[in-house]
Amino acid sequence: MRTILAGNWKMNKDATEARALLTAVMGRSCKAPTGVEVVVAPPFPYLAMAVELAAVARDCGVVAKVAAQNCHHKENGAYTGEVSVPMLRSLGVDACLVAHSERRQYFGETYALAADKIHLLLQYGMEPILCCGEGQEERENGSFNAVVERQLRGALATVDRKDYARLVVAYEPVWAIGTGLTATPQQAQDMHAHIRGTLVRIGGEAAREVPVLYGGSCKPDNAEGLFNMPDINGGLIGGASLEADQFLALITAAGRAKQP
Ligand code: 13P
Repeated sequence: MRTILAGNWKMNKDATEARALLTAVMGRSCKAPTGVEVVVAPPFPYLAMAVELAAVARDCGVVAKVAAQNCHHKENGAYTGEVSVPMLRSLGVDACLVAHSERRQYFGETYALAADKIHLLLQYGMEPILCCGEGQEERENGSFNAVVERQLRGALATVDRKDYARLVVAYEPVWAIGTGLTATPQQAQDMHAHIRGTLVRIGGEAAREVPVLYGGSCKPDNAEGLFNMPDINGGLIGGASLEADQFLALITAAGRAKQP
């Protein structure tokens, strides 16, 4: 099973800061424990820079990948201001977040739209990182398992079984994102086991190997408990991915937790 530590920068950093952070993360990840895939998801203007700097980590044997935070669901055309999957692919971008809760919350994105994006990403040989997760009310009223299952079914209905090898799922409970509240390791483990079971019901046995990442106020001081859980295969990190020291500490924590 792959272990992945991904940093979602969201809408942060200017170009100088972006270069400094990418240089530090890619350079220093060479010294981090091996076996962890390092993914950075900076804003669109820095993707080419990230592809160039990820080569530094690749040269020293780290599996380093670059992800976009979003893409359009159509291949090309008159969609002013949008960025297409073929554009990302042609830059050397490896992966793309899909259905992040902030896209759902602020831009009205649905899982039907996510299905279209995933289809295109797979067609272009990229890895979709599909985000799912319940809101606060759904956590409190106990509907969270059903909600997440519906999200996954909506996004994955048309995915070919052979393509599960290129899928990554991130569980990000909305109530834990940027709030300082984290799911307990047991809450996260229970949901990750549910997600894995759901993936296998939708996609068959091949889907058992889909890495399922945890996201939501994951920091160096709470990561170990989460990463030690059997169905948690790494993290999708927001705030703590903006500081090289913290992001590197999380790579190390993921590597330590997943050592055989
Ligand atoms: P935080 O780590 O800032 O809570 O963000 C999580 C997230 O949304 C990553 O995609």
